[in-house]
Amino acid sequence: MARDTYRLRIEAPELARQVLPGQFFMIRSPGVTNLLLGRPFALYDVWTDASGAPAGIDIAYLVVGKMTGLMATWVPGDRVEVWGPLGNGFPPADCERLLLVAGGIGNTPFPAVAREALGLARYGNRAPQAKLPREAVTFCYGVRSAEYLAGLEDFAALGIDVRLATDDGTRGHKGFVTELVANLLQGTDSRGYRIYCCGPEPMMHAVAKLTARHNIPCWLSLETPMACGFGACFSCVTKVKQPSGEWDYRRTCVEGPIFHAEQLAL
Ligand SMILES: Cc1cc2nc3c(=O)[nH]c(=O)nc-3n(C[C@H](O)[C@H](O)[C@H](O)COP(=O)(O)OP(=O)(O)OC[C@H]3O[C@@H](n4cnc5c(N)ncnc54)[C@H](O)[C@@H]3O)c2cc1C
Ligand code: FES
Repeated sequence: MARDTYRLRIEAPELARQVLPGQFFMIRSPGVTNLLLGRPFALYDVWTDASGAPAGIDIAYLVVGKMTGLMATWVPGDRVEVWGPLGNGFPPADCERLLLVAGGIGNTPFPAVAREALGLARYGNRAPQAKLPREAVTFCYGVRSAEYLAGLEDFAALGIDVRLATDDGTRGHKGFVTELVANLLQGTDSRGYRIYCCGPEPMMHAVAKLTARHNIPCWLSLETPMACGFGACFSCVTKVKQPSGEWDYRRTCVEGPIFHAEQLAL
């Protein structure tokens, strides 16, 4: 899809029928003993068969280490272990304007989020969404350098407003994606807006601050490293503010990975 970035297509109709945008899967290679733990990957999108029925899931991933390095060697016909769908997923986009903000490989949850918001696809057993017009959905996407921009054709095909930033200025705005967001919100009437964000923690920190300043509801998808993915090991806890105002720890894999920005200790 881009430098060191690949798409993995998994045939799994039962997972494809259940999964919601923003949920994730734990993926493992059967029979590989030096990689016992699975690794979490977000749903990129569901793919359908010739009759239009959900047939499987696509995952998009960046090679960073052992497992993703191994995944890049997989060939059609290989069998993989997948468990899921896991986590909560993004809430339905019941808003007037939806702003999707991604940093690096944090773009992966957004094709499905955007397609659902536009009324182009239904996921799981969710009721049909109120359809947003294409011009009401904006995708701000930042990466280090243009060669890491992944899936641009998928976002372009949706006809939404796509705004790009690169750290080195090789495409789009030269600088951080958060600057794109700040420019977009500058002087805008932010009523009716909602923001969904996924990416490196400092970026989400900055987006959460911006949205608090503009009083825009914002949900963040955390990429906390995980060992089990289903609530058993507590390796993924994050500090979350309770309705009482007190802080407590929550497992990102079951109570997340998506949290309202106000809940997090950012
Ligand atoms: C809910 C969720 C969804 C995710 N979705 C995607 C996705 O769609 N596509 C994608 O490419 N990645 C995604 N990730 C991150 C992905 O799980 C890691 O990149 C992967 O586990 C790395 O495995 P590895 O064996 O290749 O790397 P390792 O050999 O385990 O680690 C390589 C290096 O990456 C660091 N690292 C590993 N995991 C993380 C992490 N989660 N955050 C920060 N640093 C880490 C390690 O500290 C090490 O420096 C997601 C993570 C979570 C929690
Ligand atoms: S990864 Fe084990 S409890 Fe979350």
